[in-house]
Amino acid sequence: MKISIFGAGYVGAVSAACLAKEGHTVIAVDPDPNKIEPLLAGKSPIIEPGLEDFIKDGVSSGRLTATSDARSAILNSDLSLICVGTPSRHDGSLNTEYLKRVAEDIGAVLKTKDSYHSVVVRSTCLPGTTETVVVPALEQASGMVAGEDFGIAYLPEFLRESTAIKDYYDPGVIVFGTQDKLTLDRLQEIHEKLQRPKYVVDIKTAEGIKYTNNAWHALKISFSNEIGNILSKAGIDSHVALEILCGDDRLNISKAYLTPGFAFGGSCLPKDLRALISMSRRQGTPAPLLEATLSANEVQINRAYSMVAEHGSRKVGFVGLSFKPDTDDLRESPLVELAERLYGRGFQLKIFDPNIRLARLTGANASFVKSRLPHLADLLNEDINTVIEESDILVVGNRAEMNGSLQNVKPDTCIIDLVRVDKSLRSEGNYHGICW
Ligand SMILES: NC(=O)c1ccc[n+]([C@@H]2O[C@H](COP(=O)([O-])OP(=O)(O)OC[C@H]3O[C@@H](n4cnc5c(N)ncnc54)[C@H](O)[C@@H]3O)[C@@H](O)[C@H]2O)c1
Repeated sequence: MKISIFGAGYVGAVSAACLAKEGHTVIAVDPDPNKIEPLLAGKSPIIEPGLEDFIKDGVSSGRLTATSDARSAILNSDLSLICVGTPSRHDGSLNTEYLKRVAEDIGAVLKTKDSYHSVVVRSTCLPGTTETVVVPALEQASGMVAGEDFGIAYLPEFLRESTAIKDYYDPGVIVFGTQDKLTLDRLQEIHEKLQRPKYVVDIKTAEGIKYTNNAWHALKISFSNEIGNILSKAGIDSHVALEILCGDDRLNISKAYLTPGFAFGGSCLPKDLRALISMSRRQGTPAPLLEATLSANEVQINRAYSMVAEHGSRKVGFVGLSFKPDTDDLRESPLVELAERLYGRGFQLKIFDPNIRLARLTGANASFVKSRLPHLADLLNEDINTVIEESDILVVGNRAEMNGSLQNVKPDTCIIDLVRVDKSLRSEGNYHGICW
């Protein structure tokens, strides 16, 4: 395939060299002579292990060239990858100026091109940027329509500097963000040899995935450092502890606990987090991330409360009260916390949870309920259909208990789903997912 790459920095130079290595004809475009001149001489403009050999190979085979002329690059390629920088502004917001300018450059040439051209954004940009910055600039400069007259896609880049070539050939996943068939076919072709999981999603989702990944990586590093600080102060080798944490692929390095939904609760996580934070304070070891984890949990309870309160009606039904299905342990259930707040502010509650039989609650569990929701007996209802029928707002806090009863919900009942009871549902009309 004939490919032009706009921006010959860390991402663009690696993409250009690897794509040329794979047999594609690649033109790297950059206004900076410090990028173009070394490339033309078969040298790498950046330090990256193995890159210079790839570039030398590409240039001597004639498959890799470099230019500052956007026009000739577009006219001599079928697909353009945009790899320009998207730096932070002083206030932390994303500077999309280079993206806009490169889109204008490309658009101005597309106007004069007869064949279908695919424009693929690789620069990291916030969800919505391709559609609100890149596409309008391309359309305005070209007088053409994205998705009809030219293709548009977002292809997140996951490579890491210093292992960039290895990452190019062995990425964790490959994500194609496009709804444009020809552009998707072209992207599939370029990535044909890479036997890694490939996902096709819309542009905005692909942009969001890149940020989800980077936020996750940053969070993991800070978590490891913070827990390492606390453990080492307690005389424990943090590397041993983290090594063993990673050995558990059921609960730790797995999908477990990576499902957006309601706050965590139960008899262990809140208690143990508080204990660890209090130990870190005694040690004098700052633990801002662990402390923020408790605050983040509170935010999710506040969010659910606001969703109920904003509806206007006071008749609220709960489906599920314990912190997860198939247990009657109500201790520190965030649903009890939510119910308590609503009850305290005068909402009329009806609660269904088949596992909760007040007469059977004992010990710390019974004391917790007595102290937090003393009127629970009056609010509990054994028949889910009564709760559904007599509520204007239905809070679904427990997936197992719904068991198809959603079909019985009146169309004008507002459903506030905290667990994504049905995978296909997204917030619209009277259905509101807490974070989807
Ligand atoms: N560096 C990484 O490890 C990495 C990894 C994944 C994603 N990303 C993302 O990829 C993007 C590029 O990052 P980078 O580190 O390669 O940036 P970089 O600053 O190294 O390179 C950007 C290049 O774009 C060029 N450029 C600017 N305007 C241009 C235009 N109109 N036409 C052509 N070229 C133009 C610049 O001269 C520069 O050489 C960023 O959005 C970044 O967040 C970077």
